[in-house]
Amino acid sequence: MSKKALMVVSFGTTYPDARRAIENLEERLCAAFPGYDFYRAFTSRMVARKIEKEEGVYIPSPAELLGQLADAGYEEVCCQSLHVIFGQEYEKLMEQLRAFRGRFTRLSAGAPLLWDTQDYLRLTRALLERMPRLAEDEAFVFMGHGTEHPANAAYALVENCFRYQGAERVYVGTVEGFPHLDYVLARLSRREVTNVHLAPLMIVAGDHAQNDLAGEEEGSWKSRLESEGYGTEVHLTGLGELDEVADIFIDHCKQASPL
Ligand code: CO
Repeated sequence: MSKKALMVVSFGTTYPDARRAIENLEERLCAAFPGYDFYRAFTSRMVARKIEKEEGVYIPSPAELLGQLADAGYEEVCCQSLHVIFGQEYEKLMEQLRAFRGRFTRLSAGAPLLWDTQDYLRLTRALLERMPRLAEDEAFVFMGHGTEHPANAAYALVENCFRYQGAERVYVGTVEGFPHLDYVLARLSRREVTNVHLAPLMIVAGDHAQNDLAGEEEGSWKSRLESEGYGTEVHLTGLGELDEVADIFIDHCKQASPL
């Protein structure tokens, strides 16, 4: 019997409560791949160091984990990333994986959450199904991460898929890229919106969701909206808590291509 490992890689989060989103995806992936030994890696060393200090648990980087798996005699390694887009973090992961080509009989990697159009449609459909029924004067705003990487274009496609499914007052902005909050605000002001629902478009409702989105400080999205006169309602659910999101990752892991 050849030794097979399933490694699930995420950015990680230092918020133990938010980690349940990652754990849900790990558990669902694990159940879909019986016969594979499960391993976790976090790409963020900052997050790993903080967890080690506070909880005494060390979570390896993908490269460290791959070294351990090679030493332990694993022949097959399937890597599933829990990243949302094929951005910088995902590319860094692929680089680490490529360095281990030849160390295993088979080394494969599954695509991030948003890969082909079907993924965008599946995600937006799942989000619309869970969304409260919006009254005439309500809008829903999602906060994506955003990046300088060309994959940032993905966020505009997410919003398009909401429109395609008839959701006219659902918007997507990002913390670190475009569309930014100002553009979302400009569009809200053109409609008779008085109440805005806010939620992260991120795997975990971690640091960005708790502070940049829902924080009480001046610059948070919640505060900005309230200072513009909107009522707000925050939904702190990470995408990783959704079954449909787990299903997309499971499909990507099943279709994982060899490196
Ligand atoms: Co960030």
